[in-house]
Amino acid sequence: MTENVTISRAGGIQEIAFNRPEKKNALTRHMYAAVVDALRSGDADPAVRVTILTGVGDIFTSGNDIKDFQVRAASNATSAASPFLDALSTLEKPLIGAVNGAAIGVGTTMLAHCDLVVAARSARFVMPFTSLGLVPEAGSSLLFPQLLGNQRASALLLLGEPMTAEQGLQWGFVNQVVDDADLMETARGLARRMAALPPGAIRQTKKLIRHGAPDTTARIAEELELFRARLQSPEAGEAFAAFVEKRKPDFSRFD
Ligand code: COA
Repeated sequence: MTENVTISRAGGIQEIAFNRPEKKNALTRHMYAAVVDALRSGDADPAVRVTILTGVGDIFTSGNDIKDFQVRAASNATSAASPFLDALSTLEKPLIGAVNGAAIGVGTTMLAHCDLVVAARSARFVMPFTSLGLVPEAGSSLLFPQLLGNQRASALLLLGEPMTAEQGLQWGFVNQVVDDADLMETARGLARRMAALPPGAIRQTKKLIRHGAPDTTARIAEELELFRARLQSPEAGEAFAAFVEKRKPDFSRFD
């Protein structure tokens, strides 16, 4: 295990698990770096055919660590998520999301870059960017309207409404919903099928399916620019302080 991320490789399948259950698998700078290393080295290693992303415990991930957001806002540090989004959106080998419990913020947006998503019945997808004074990231402002239509995407991205596992299935965001106990075996079954197929054909097919990638890359960059500015906004400052102080945020003074 490196920095709260568990990585294993066997039989052509790499498994990456967010492993910080005491903080609901909130993603720190170090965790992003560990995942980027695993994704990049998996792409370069012929022994890896496919990667599964999952979370340890009762949650996939609660998204970016909010205390890290506060540190970044104060120091103007570079985005730790940026190399992660770059690795995700340019990955050549297939990626399978295996979602247990809540997937919040980047926890949901990263799944739009997965080739297959399996959800446990406990899964729910939430993107509370606006309530944190932020804007969407990971290309989600482009990918979600494309995938779900403008109205559903607006409910998820403007209001932060949760999407259940069943809704995800009906709306085409999720391939399969299974009992929680069957989640990993289902994901591994799909991964084994993928790993047995000709790897060159798989990589080229993935590239064709992700043909909109140049648009996505540009949108990721545009979102990151706005996101960086929003992190330092008084609205975000109030939202982060409220989270840390375990109180309701008050946005009434902002115009
Ligand atoms: N960043 C930093 N810490 C987080 C976190 C996050 N994104 N999500 C959870 N934690 C921490 C909590 O502060 C708490 O820490 P503490 O024990 O030191 O007080 C611990 O993880 C457990 O979380 P808690 O809120 O008590 O668990 P819960 O089961 O009641 O709720 C969540 C779980 C995920 C619904 C809730 O923690 C939450 O909403 N987290 C924030 C999600 C978010 O807004 N992410 C950013 C998206 S851009």
